[in-house]
Amino acid sequence: MLNFSNTNVLLCVTGGIAAYKSAEIIRLFKKDGADVRVVMTESAKEFITPLTLQAVSGNEIHDSLLDVKAESAMGHIELAKWADIILIAPCTAESLAKITHGRADDLMGSVILASNATSYIAPAMNTTMWLDKSTQENFQTLLSRGMNFIGPDEGEQACGDVGPGRLVEPEKIVELIKSDLHKGPLSGKTITITAGPTREQIDPVRYISNNSSGKMGYALAEAAKLQGANVNLVSGPVSLTANKGINLFKINSAAEMLNKVIECMESSDIFISCAAVADFKPANYSDTKIKKEDSESLEINLEKNHDILSEVSKRHNSAYIVGFAAETANVNDNANKKLNSKNLNMIISNDVSDKTIGFDSDDNEVHVITENETIFLKKDKKIKIAREILNIIALNIKS
Ligand code: PMT
Repeated sequence: MLNFSNTNVLLCVTGGIAAYKSAEIIRLFKKDGADVRVVMTESAKEFITPLTLQAVSGNEIHDSLLDVKAESAMGHIELAKWADIILIAPCTAESLAKITHGRADDLMGSVILASNATSYIAPAMNTTMWLDKSTQENFQTLLSRGMNFIGPDEGEQACGDVGPGRLVEPEKIVELIKSDLHKGPLSGKTITITAGPTREQIDPVRYISNNSSGKMGYALAEAAKLQGANVNLVSGPVSLTANKGINLFKINSAAEMLNKVIECMESSDIFISCAAVADFKPANYSDTKIKKEDSESLEINLEKNHDILSEVSKRHNSAYIVGFAAETANVNDNANKKLNSKNLNMIISNDVSDKTIGFDSDDNEVHVITENETIFLKKDKKIKIAREILNIIALNIKS
């Protein structure tokens, strides 16, 4: 099922009679998992109260460019960076003109100028105003710059006129944006991602494992899904749940992970090996619980597990293969060695000696390394890092 989970939507409401429909737009985005913030122009507040939109969105309304308090909480630049999607709905003739001319004399104009988010305009105005030459010129100018338009619809208007100028119904606006979002750069591609730790059993109650929480791998799976990919997530034991629409395969040991990955790679275009696979496993598994009364000390012989990543790169040289390097010293040098020895297209290095990133933290900071370049992604939430990694992969696959 397609949804907006982990998607930040900034709704800009301008002053037209259709402004009352913005509450429903917010409700629909939120129902599908989006975090919604609202910018209101001064005239929008004449048509619907900030209190209503605050209650529906669950976030404070943003309405002022020069308010010290508002700017210290989330200023216009932060708001512009926060948004993944900007929707101006309803957009009046005046706001359309303002956006066309890049005016930044209020919060909405400034945020739109300062943002790289995918933006949509849903116009709503009197039909004669919409058909007026200047509005049509503004419309064409914005279209030529790549702005996305939703509507307007035709029909009877609040003023009694009939023709184009009605706001497209909220359900349709939200559905259109959703299907656009999922038409992302990875649509048509199948990605297999590993996540979490593996467990190598010593006996029925004891095992060797590590501190991987699965957060990085699950974030990659979610970001890949949002970019339109078909996602297989092969996960070790973690306490996370995968979003709907992700094909989740739960395994315990490295051997089970290897088998499932090999099966998934039969129909995959991309492999991302994010799991912290145990390098060794006990050479002899004890069917019964090892009794401490039997001896004063215990020696466990370990043998090497298969290297899943190397195995995949050996078998699938037409797939795009991405490894992770969890390092504590000479991070990028060691990562580069793995890029070559495992014959990868890309390796993501992270310094796991830093407790604020890497294992079991919400954040990460990585270098994305390919034969041709090294891109530094500074410390951020794992979902943001995951999105950037997927963007780079999508670009590399295209070129
Ligand atoms: O799960 P989190 O708590 O969010 O933490 C994320 C993470 C730190 C686990 C992740 O960002 C990360 O670095 N994953 C790779 C962990 C690792 O095993 O790194 P490595 O340098 O030891 O291995 C190199 C690569 O070989 C990795 O892609 C690994 O998945 C793969 N590998 C290793 C051993 C093995 N037997 N099979 C493998 O496929």
